[in-house]
Amino acid sequence: MSQAPLIPRYKSLRRTFSFVHEPIPVFSDYIKAYGDTFQVYLGGVKKVLVTANPKVMRHVLQKNHKNYSKSEIQTDLLAQYVGNGLLTSDGDYWFKQRRLIQPGFHKQRIKSLVGLIQAAIDKQMDTLESERGKELDFYPRMMDIAFSIIGNAMFSEYATQNDLAKIEESIYVLQQFIVKRARQPFMYPVYWMNGKLKKYNGIARDIEGLVLNIIRTRKQLPKQPDDLLGMLIDTRYEDDNTPMSEEQLLWESNILFVAGHETTANALCWMLYLLAKNPQYVDNLKNEIKEHVGVEELSFDVLMKMPLLNGIILEAMRMFPPAWILDRVAHEDDQAEGIDIPKGTMVLPLVYHAHYREEDWEAPDVFRPERFIQTKNQAAYFPFGAGPRMCIGNNFAMLEMQIFLVQFFKKFELEVTPNTSGKLKALITIKPEKGMRLKLI
Ligand code: HEM
Repeated sequence: MSQAPLIPRYKSLRRTFSFVHEPIPVFSDYIKAYGDTFQVYLGGVKKVLVTANPKVMRHVLQKNHKNYSKSEIQTDLLAQYVGNGLLTSDGDYWFKQRRLIQPGFHKQRIKSLVGLIQAAIDKQMDTLESERGKELDFYPRMMDIAFSIIGNAMFSEYATQNDLAKIEESIYVLQQFIVKRARQPFMYPVYWMNGKLKKYNGIARDIEGLVLNIIRTRKQLPKQPDDLLGMLIDTRYEDDNTPMSEEQLLWESNILFVAGHETTANALCWMLYLLAKNPQYVDNLKNEIKEHVGVEELSFDVLMKMPLLNGIILEAMRMFPPAWILDRVAHEDDQAEGIDIPKGTMVLPLVYHAHYREEDWEAPDVFRPERFIQTKNQAAYFPFGAGPRMCIGNNFAMLEMQIFLVQFFKKFELEVTPNTSGKLKALITIKPEKGMRLKLI
């Protein structure tokens, strides 16, 4: 067994500035120089193990997942603002919640959400119709669409547009603050003194009040509507048949909002970008839509059977995986593929870089949806993570992206303009650096 190569501290210190602004090319350079698994001092201080090797990634996320938990950024910092739910908990509590909530996201269950998702999308399509012919920034529009989809699927008609707009805005500002706190932990006393901690706590408590009101109204109903909140309210713990408490309902609802909109918005944005750059696929997609969907209502089963539609979504998430990096911490000494992982090591699986490995992907820089039609089994593909903490909303996310693409390309086409840029910014998710400007036709 051996240690992964360690990048000398002076080298990582030299690149601290570019690392903060553009971590992806910095990691690519390290991989070229040191191989797909290496150790580096993050910010010149904290030594971490970074890997783009799919076997090491699967070992940590899946095979020996019991030896790893999430880092404190999610379990402590995010939890302070959105509560202790699936994304932010660990250990026995997480396991209990996952078992409880997982069945609600099975394909059979989310089939019934097609109508709610479609209604949210169609409303936004009407707004887009009024902007036909213009060059638009699709980034804020995809954020709104993704948010209204999850809002509708969560609460059906039990949240007003005003409530949803307030939740969206608050989650946005809270996330900005959380990223700042994670990057500059030493600023904590300053935020305490200048009142920022109080201000953002206040924003978090305001959303709580709003969501709790909806939960309380809903709990009075004799029968729950067929939406995600209804599923959370109706579900019962296996051991004692009790429901979740009000606080747990609040936390899990918040978590679904946080986990379920920015990732999807980014994925949709990159999909539109790639299709605008590769219009030959749009023609074929339109034919596939005509052949399968026509004027009839959308159905889950039909959407699942559209090969090009699904190939486009999967390929876009290969090239621009919204969750581009994951994080885990080892509880005990471990080894993967001959590499030592000492107790306490923070491991960073690089989803983005695994998706561009020459060993696993032919011509990885080329947009080629066919690769997902020809082979289903992709060992180096992690858009939704892997193992027991894999995205619980993956089927839901696939469904909303399918419905969006079908409804969008039934009506519209896209063109790139001189302002279109594929330059990305990697924060927690991969987003377009300066918005996504495309012409709507
Ligand atoms: C394209 C869209 C999406 C992508 C790329 C994505 C990606 C991911 C990834 C990579 C993880 C695992 C993180 C880790 O292992 O550390 C995750 C977890 C999670 N996702 Fe998603 N996600 C998407 C959409 C959604 C949606 C729509 C929902 C909810 C409706 C959702 C809810 C969650 C939750 C609750 C978790 C935590 C699961 C757990 O730890 O048990 N995600 N997601």
